[in-house]
Amino acid sequence: MTIQSNNKIAVVTGAGGTLCSEMARNLAQQGYKVALIGRTIEKLKVVEEEIKAAGGIAISVTADVSSEESMIAAKIIIEKELGMCSVLINGAGGNQNEAIPNLVEFDEKELLDDGSVKGFFNLNMSVFQSVIDINTMGTVIPCFVFGRSMARQKRGSIINFASMTSYRPITRVAAYSMAKGGIVNFTQWLAAYLAPANIRVNGIAPGFFLNDRSRKIMFNEDDSQTERAQNVLRQTPLKRFGEAPELIGCMNWLISEENAGFVTGITVPVDGGFLSCPGV
Ligand SMILES: NC(=O)c1ccc[n+]([C@@H]2O[C@H](COP(=O)([O-])OP(=O)(O)OC[C@H]3O[C@@H](n4cnc5c(N)ncnc54)[C@H](OP(=O)(O)O)[C@@H]3O)[C@@H](O)[C@H]2O)c1
Repeated sequence: MTIQSNNKIAVVTGAGGTLCSEMARNLAQQGYKVALIGRTIEKLKVVEEEIKAAGGIAISVTADVSSEESMIAAKIIIEKELGMCSVLINGAGGNQNEAIPNLVEFDEKELLDDGSVKGFFNLNMSVFQSVIDINTMGTVIPCFVFGRSMARQKRGSIINFASMTSYRPITRVAAYSMAKGGIVNFTQWLAAYLAPANIRVNGIAPGFFLNDRSRKIMFNEDDSQTERAQNVLRQTPLKRFGEAPELIGCMNWLISEENAGFVTGITVPVDGGFLSCPGV
């Protein structure tokens, strides 16, 4: 691996996770000094050690992306140790079981509140709200905190994470759909706002990629596909789940001034054709 000596600094949130650990490793291979952000230090350290073992530069910073105070504290550490970032990958996000109904449509049984079913009316509203917070403010706040440094430098590229649920709500995925719908809108808004600061803001909308959480939803204990997985693959023309390295080309295109210098405010689906499949 060739590491160029330069001043490229990237902040990656959710860097201990499936998709963004891959992005962080790739950015380090390109010579970026990478700040890895997440809440669990052990997950970040694994990625940090991999990057260092390959000759790259990375630091792990534990922080909660939905807290302004926490992100400001992270920024102080990152700017002291690495400098001001010019690339921000907003990968932190995800769903929580208590915000996910088991039903795809209303059933009168959910009104009994006896635990026999879990419908919309049985969800935990504080968890519902925290899913919205992490997936919306968890993108807005890092843009607010690190975007300010980019604006000072008059350069920068931000990538937000949308989803297939940004376009049409997916059954059972309530709070998360609402939040990811907001990400496409915020990406457009911020792109227009930050254009005079020479900061480009774009999004990636992954289709279905396996991570620790979705693996449990898509596979039974005997490794056979669940009905949910079969439904997803039936509506994915390429008939498979995505792999994290398949997002790298899109990331590198979007952050490149040379190749995407006139591209801002878009969200690119990387979805095996899911959005093009009518499902009938
Ligand atoms: N996998 C897919 O199929 C798929 C599809 C569409 C969109 N996406 C989006 O792509 C992004 C990455 O997904 P992934 O599959 O890589 O998920 P993942 O493996 O669960 O990684 C997400 C990471 O975000 C971190 N995180 C969550 N809440 C956080 C918070 N409040 N503050 C800081 N870090 C936080 C988690 O670490 P800690 O818990 O340690 O903080 C976790 O490592 C997410 O935004 C996800 O919604 C994924």
